[in-house]
Amino acid sequence: MSYQVIARKYRPQVFDEVAGQRLITDTLKNAVLHNRVAHGYIFSGGRGVGKTTTARILAKSLNCTKGPTVSPCGECPSCREIAQGNSVDVFEIDAASNRGIDEIRELRETVRYLPARDPYKVFIIDEAHMLTTEAFNALLKTLEEPPARSLFVLCTTEPHKLPTTIQSRCQHFSFRLLDYAEIFDRLKWVLNKEQIEADEGALSAVAEAAEGSLRDALSLLDQAIASSGKRLEEVHIRQLLGVVPSRVLVELVEAIDAGNAGQVLETVGRLSAEGYELNHFCGEFTRYIRNLAVAKSCGPASNLLQLPEGERAVLAGLAEQFSEEDLARFFQILIRAEGEMRYALNPRFQLELALLKMVHIRKLTSLENLLADLRGSRPAEALKAGTKQPERLPSPSVDFKKGAQPPPRPIRSAPVRPANDQQSADPLPSRSPEVTEQSSDRIPSLQKADDPRLDKIKRLAFGQSKLLSSCLDPITGWRFENGEVRFLFSKNNSWAVDFLSAREQQEKLRSVCAEALGQPVKIYVTLDDREGSEPKTRRSARVRAESDQGVEAIVKKFQCTLVDVIDLSRE
Ligand SMILES: Nc1ncnc2c1ncn2[C@@H]1O[C@H](COP(=O)(O)OP(=O)(O)OP(=O)(O)O)[C@@H](O)[C@H]1O
Ligand SMILES: [Mg+2]
Ligand SMILES: [Zn+2]
Repeated sequence: MSYQVIARKYRPQVFDEVAGQRLITDTLKNAVLHNRVAHGYIFSGGRGVGKTTTARILAKSLNCTKGPTVSPCGECPSCREIAQGNSVDVFEIDAASNRGIDEIRELRETVRYLPARDPYKVFIIDEAHMLTTEAFNALLKTLEEPPARSLFVLCTTEPHKLPTTIQSRCQHFSFRLLDYAEIFDRLKWVLNKEQIEADEGALSAVAEAAEGSLRDALSLLDQAIASSGKRLEEVHIRQLLGVVPSRVLVELVEAIDAGNAGQVLETVGRLSAEGYELNHFCGEFTRYIRNLAVAKSCGPASNLLQLPEGERAVLAGLAEQFSEEDLARFFQILIRAEGEMRYALNPRFQLELALLKMVHIRKLTSLENLLADLRGSRPAEALKAGTKQPERLPSPSVDFKKGAQPPPRPIRSAPVRPANDQQSADPLPSRSPEVTEQSSDRIPSLQKADDPRLDKIKRLAFGQSKLLSSCLDPITGWRFENGEVRFLFSKNNSWAVDFLSAREQQEKLRSVCAEALGQPVKIYVTLDDREGSEPKTRRSARVRAESDQGVEAIVKKFQCTLVDVIDLSRE
């Protein structure tokens, strides 16, 4: 017997064999059982997820000599012919090949006649969105007054391209992409039937590469069997698919963790020299980082992971090295790089840039933590309560600068010190009196910051995200009345207002406030305009920068000097 490709050989023949589309198959089974099959259906969804297969099963269910039945016999002439695609009463039309004009014309002719032999005349139109306007019009007329015992199934990957007039006359089922585990299991099942052995890693590589399409998975499996024979080995399959060994992904993550830019670049060089497609590799690495993010957020047992059991322990170990924020940023960088690489003349540069960003962004993250800490968003209560702490806090014993030893002082708990104290302890050049004035300006807001409700908001915000929490820090005042919360910020903290005005952050802040205040609230974030009228605007940007806690912290931490200050708000 000639070789039959696996996807064909294992095409499901009854509803219950269709994987991953349970909701749809159950609904159709019910319709068949209760004699409530509609005249028109739209089956939409990605490539190779079971649309045509399900349409044929529906046709068999209606036309089987034992039918209507939800388990067609597969033996009778109707069942056999439908499976082979040559039934007298089931027409499969491929709208993509000649855009269907002739077929639809013919369809309009034939549809008027009763089925030749079987109970139903079934038209399965593949790639239905490719039909011409004329063909759609013809089809519409038929759907408006469907002849008795006729059934149309429009299969399409792009349902939005179907005219709404057609859509409104059909029942619409949208087929989902299959997830990694479903594909993996199906591959295992097929191999078992074929009596072929495989490494878990080999199956995993195929399942990942299929990206949700079972047909693609089975076609890849065909290739793999053709080139390997009775045993599929991971190394070989990965080479065949152009997928890098998982060890490379692990090493790359480790290099990023170690901040080793050299090693990262060497890896890219090696892959390129070995002929791996870098765009494809970027996709793989994105998937790996996504897995890390999932392992971090949902734990290594999560079924959202696209990974075989055996690799989960390594993944969990790696995830430990990063914060959720790190991983979210990596994910974002890679997704962007993937898009950009598609159009880049030299995709390698794009990939290198993305990976270098990942190496360096962690240093920025620790800076963010440092700032969060200095701005006092590390409430003692939260720490005691075991709330999540910033990953990389600067140690309190950091040697700040020769001679001067000011301990890090959370604004919240430190009393405002007299100006002379500040001067003697401060390593920066002498300050203008306005600076002291500004410090005392802060007194009222400090007192307000002792409001236990605001404390609670800050504490909850801290648990949500460090960035959100450090934005709440420079608040100069707040008000809560009639379900409205207003936060005021001074002009030089307009960055916080900008940040908190972004929809996503507002949403976070709103839920934090609602929780802290025990009721739904509206949020307003505004610049304190009282401040605008103050003479402090005379203060030079440099002086203001020098007096800024954040700048001060950076200067100390990195032992650098302030060279130039540009006031962006005036540009
Ligand atoms: N949900 C599924 N369960 C089991 N096998 C499936 C499923 N989806 C696809 N297959 C396998 O893939 C092959 C192709 O499936 P099918 O023709 O139904 O895909 P399709 O959704 O119509 O794709 P296309 O949009 O490319 O026409 C089937 O023969 C079968 O082996
Ligand atoms: Mg199809
Ligand atoms: Zn039958």
